[in-house]
Amino acid sequence: MNEKILNETARAMVAPGRGILAADESTGTIKKRFDKIGIDNVEANRQAYRDMLFNTPDFEKYTSGVILFEETLFQKSLSGVPFPELLASKGVIPGIKVDQGAKPLFGGGAEETITEGLDGLRERLQKYKAAGARFAKWRAVIVIGDGTPSDYAIHTNAHALARYAALCQEADIVPIVEPEVLMDADNSIEICESVTDRTLEAVFHELYLQKVLLEGIVLKPNMVVSGAKCPTQAGVQEVAERTLKILKRRVPIAVPGIAFLSGGQSDQLATAHLDAMNKIGGFTWGLTFSYGRALQAAALKAWGGSNVEAGKAAHLHRAKMNGLASLGKWDKSLEAA
Ligand code: 13P
Repeated sequence: MNEKILNETARAMVAPGRGILAADESTGTIKKRFDKIGIDNVEANRQAYRDMLFNTPDFEKYTSGVILFEETLFQKSLSGVPFPELLASKGVIPGIKVDQGAKPLFGGGAEETITEGLDGLRERLQKYKAAGARFAKWRAVIVIGDGTPSDYAIHTNAHALARYAALCQEADIVPIVEPEVLMDADNSIEICESVTDRTLEAVFHELYLQKVLLEGIVLKPNMVVSGAKCPTQAGVQEVAERTLKILKRRVPIAVPGIAFLSGGQSDQLATAHLDAMNKIGGFTWGLTFSYGRALQAAALKAWGGSNVEAGKAAHLHRAKMNGLASLGKWDKSLEAA
C-alpha cells in the first residue's frame, strides 16, 4: 500500500470546484434509463451515450473523476481511444464499480440486502488497474422500513464495505465507500438522520478494525432527507444542517473528502442541498458530488439517442451547476442562464 498515492488520488477526486460523474450503471440499470427514451439497450448505444458524456467540451473543469462500469472500462470511444485513456488525457481520473450488486440478505428484514463481489476481487482489481482505473466504488444499500434497518444488515454491509476498501488500498486504488441509506420510503427526516448516524458509526468502526487508511478513501453517503413518500418534506436548509450534523459526528477529519450520491433527488434539489452545505461550511473535508441520475437525467433526455450536441450542452450545464455548488457559489438564477 502506497499511502502517498492513495492520499493524492483521494484529494484530487474532491479538488475544489470539481466532483465525480457516476456513469457506472450496470447493463440492467442503463436499460431502465434507455427505456425511458425508447433506446435499445445494445452495446453500440451504451458506447455512443458514454462517448457523448465523456467528450463534452469543458466538463473536465467540473469533473475530477468518472466511475465506469466494467464494460466501459474496456471499451473504446467512437474515435477508437480506450475510454480510460480518453478521460485521463483530459485530467479526469477513471474509476470502476467493483461490487456485483445488492442481493437478498438471508435472515434479514423485508427488502434487506447484502452487497456481493468480494470473491476474486483482489485479482479483478489488478486487471482494472492495468486498464487505468485509479479508484473504485462499492455500494451498500440500507433500507428504511417497518423494523428496518436491522443491526444485522448494517453490520454485514459495513463489514463488506471495509473488506472491499482494504483490498482496494492493498492495490493502491482509492475506495469510494458508499453506504446508501435509501431515500424512497415514507419516513420522516428524523428517521433518516438516526439511520444515517447508525450506519456511518458502523462503517467507520469496521474501517478502523480492518486497518483501512482513512486518508486514502472518499466517503459517498446519502444526504439526510425526508423520505420521498413522506407527506412533510424538509426544506433545503434543514437538510443541509442535519446532514452536516451527522457527518461532523461520524467522519474523522483524516478523510479527504465526501462526495454525495443523489439518490433520486431532482437535479436542482441535489445541487441546492450541496450548495447549502458548502455555504454553511465549518468542515475540513472536500464536500462535493458523485451523482448519477442528477448529473445525467437532463443529458440523457436531450441526447435522446442522436442529438449529441444537445446532450453535451445539458451535461455541461449540470456539471457546472454542481461544480459551483461544491464551492457554495451556486444560485438558482444561474439555472436559467
Ligand atoms: P445516483 O446519484 O443516481 O443516486 O447514483 C449515484 C451512484 O453511484 C449510486 O451508486
